[in-house]
Amino acid sequence: MGVQSSIAIQASGLIKIFGGDRAVDGLDLTVPAGVVHGFLGPNGAGKTTTIRMLSTLLRPDGGTATVFGHDVVNEADAVRGRISLTGQFVSTDEQLTGVENLVLVARLLGHSWRDARARATELIEAFGLADAADRLVRNYSGGMRRRLDIAASIVATPDLLFLDEPTAGLDPHSRNQVWDIVRALVAADTTVLLTTQYLDEADQLADRITVIAKGRVIAEGTPGELKSSVGVGALNVRLKEPGQRPEAERLLARVLAVPIHLESDPAALSARISDPERVAHALAELTRSGVRLGDFALGQPSLDEVFLALTGHRQDAGTEAAEDGAGADVP
Ligand SMILES: Nc1ncnc2c1ncn2[C@@H]1O[C@H](COP(=O)(O)OP(=O)(O)OP(=O)(O)O)[C@@H](O)[C@H]1O
Ligand SMILES: [Mg+2]
Repeated sequence: MGVQSSIAIQASGLIKIFGGDRAVDGLDLTVPAGVVHGFLGPNGAGKTTTIRMLSTLLRPDGGTATVFGHDVVNEADAVRGRISLTGQFVSTDEQLTGVENLVLVARLLGHSWRDARARATELIEAFGLADAADRLVRNYSGGMRRRLDIAASIVATPDLLFLDEPTAGLDPHSRNQVWDIVRALVAADTTVLLTTQYLDEADQLADRITVIAKGRVIAEGTPGELKSSVGVGALNVRLKEPGQRPEAERLLARVLAVPIHLESDPAALSARISDPERVAHALAELTRSGVRLGDFALGQPSLDEVFLALTGHRQDAGTEAAEDGAGADVP
């Protein structure tokens, strides 16, 4: 208790072996209570497998993990009492209506019919599904199914919610709705472990992010820390006169010592930079040489660039799981 209870997840050296292959290979993870923790990695990195071990669905082959201080193997019941899981694949019943699905879950959790009905109605409304409450889930859109799925996982408000790709395949509007739900859950003291293929989602929601590859942690930090670990970002310059671009390109290349990218806008150039101190020199050099600056901006790298730099994979939305190693990228 005490210190333990303020830590939602503590995993140390977790291992899972499938047929001789280490899907999870000595993974350490600490997640304090009350945050959204992003859990990222390329397809096949071991995210779902880790979540299944942490949520007591799969027994680790090595290492230990506790959830709110309870061991996931020896105290699995205590762990289950504190958690809920929204899996990577939708798990509601197609042949029932939205409200029937939630009533069923509430009944399984021991609510009376009356309470189950009340909780189901409350959630249906909170998740913007009131109009579709009495329609069969079979006829729901993907976004509606996702929201219903999350609703089903919080019929009993968990202390820790595992969200495994909760917005996979959703349009921007539906994603925003799910994000609002996640924010509301955290405001109500639920801790969330969030897996996502959308890096802007992790950027928006996660307090900290753990990046894994081949079952191991390869980076961890706040979104800002991860971005600055990859470089300061990009310098974007717009000239007053497009005719001066070749000269600007030459000067920037010399001072920054990196390739200069010519944008489709004929007056614009950009460069990836690693040393922010050179930026001031470069801009001063342009002015000194008579190149007239219209505008310039220094941008942080995107989390996409971080991910690519760390894993060599681009995070593509909606791609199927690929095998490890070369060829896993889908263009
Ligand atoms: N039940 C299983 N039996 C055998 N191998 C499995 C099993 N579950 C997962 N694996 C393998 O373990 C590795 C990790 O899979 P996992 O599903 O944890 O990855 P993931 O990070 O969730 O990937 P994705 O982004 O595609 O969801 C993969 O190589 C996968 O093929
Ligand atoms: Mg997965």
